[in-house]
Amino acid sequence: MPGVDEGHAVTALLGEVRTVRDPEMRRDLIDTAISELVRHAVAEEMYVYPAMRKHLPDGDKAVEHDIEEHKDIERTLKDLEGADVGTAEFEQALGRLEALLADHVQDEESEQFPELRRRIPRDELVDLAEKVETAKKLAPTRPHPGAPNNQVFHKLVGPGVGLVDRLRDKLTGRATR
Ligand SMILES: [Fe+2]
Repeated sequence: MPGVDEGHAVTALLGEVRTVRDPEMRRDLIDTAISELVRHAVAEEMYVYPAMRKHLPDGDKAVEHDIEEHKDIERTLKDLEGADVGTAEFEQALGRLEALLADHVQDEESEQFPELRRRIPRDELVDLAEKVETAKKLAPTRPHPGAPNNQVFHKLVGPGVGLVDRLRDKLTGRATR
């Protein structure tokens, strides 16, 4: 899969959220992490999981497991989108996200995706990689994580409550607005 290290990139972003002190910059970093994770989830659900179902032994079971984890992660993202930075609620949700992500990244990037790469025919793999890359480009995101108040990002999706749903709508084309 392309961008197999993206889980680690988000993990690094969350580490930054822990070390940066400026609340506005922390908000910016966490919103960027939320955006990256929703993109990750939608792209996988649309393109990677169907391939896993098709090519992996026990593929259906693996996909069900991963989808459950995506749901847990997304619930935590929703806690984070609405929480004020630095509150106990925020810190707890951040810790929960880190733990969920460590487990999820381990499953996908160490086991499932390498296995899929070994089993999927070459031309199908190339096609899949292109689709995933295209899906990710459709998502609005901040070009420079850490740059506060990126206006393009805020104009497109807006920060705060509902961020996860708005991103998912834009990515899956469910939104009519
Ligand atoms: Fe995933």
